[in-house]
Amino acid sequence: MCAIEVTPSLATERLLLRGHVPSDAERLCQLANDIKVAGMTAAMPHPYVAADAEAFIDRAIRQDWRTQAAFAIEHRQFGLVGGLGFKPAARGRTELGYWIGRPFWNRGYATEAARAALRWAQRDWRKKLVVAGHFADNPASGQVLCKSGFLYTGDVELRDSRARGQTVPTRLMVWLA
Ligand SMILES: CC(C)(COP(=O)(O)OP(=O)(O)OC[C@H]1O[C@@H](n2cnc3c(N)ncnc32)[C@H](O)[C@@H]1OP(=O)(O)O)[C@@H](O)C(=O)NCCC(=O)NCCS
Repeated sequence: MCAIEVTPSLATERLLLRGHVPSDAERLCQLANDIKVAGMTAAMPHPYVAADAEAFIDRAIRQDWRTQAAFAIEHRQFGLVGGLGFKPAARGRTELGYWIGRPFWNRGYATEAARAALRWAQRDWRKKLVVAGHFADNPASGQVLCKSGFLYTGDVELRDSRARGQTVPTRLMVWLA
């Protein structure tokens, strides 16, 4: 019997999107323990402590890549710079989310990672539709999604921000293969 490698890894010009490994925990914690990062996501806690990083990585290592995908975003020179994931959403849809550590903002990394991940989702996962949403006070993320081919649906709904401890108006977007 032969083992089949099921953890995908996606290479771009500057980045490698790969599965998480336990040694990511310290850097993950350093970059994610930032309210400017966590407060723009739905699920990240704040403060973000070592146990949060370890639990996240443990879940990521055990994930079923057929239904979800949590990638570490590694820069070829700077190491881990962020994360990107697809998770199941309402009505059988797949939702994209991502973050980049603040020292690495505005260098095009999120857009480069999102474009590569969408190519992979289309080609390997056979996804024809991916949804995403960004908090209305986070135009940078809207820009990343637009540059990656998403369109605004026109719908805005209130979604939880765990780090802020409140709901935030969220602009919904859709990407079609
Ligand atoms: C949103 C985020 C992922 C962007 O990462 P990034 O690597 O800096 O993104 P990119 O460099 O690929 O693109 C950022 C774009 O936003 C633009 N931008 C940055 N700040 C902006 C602002 N205040 N208003 C409007 N656009 C802004 C940049 O100019 C750039 O667009 P351009 O290339 O057309 O000039 C990063 O800021 C982040 O992780 N934020 C916290 C977590 C988060 O928001 N996750 C997404 C949840 S939906």
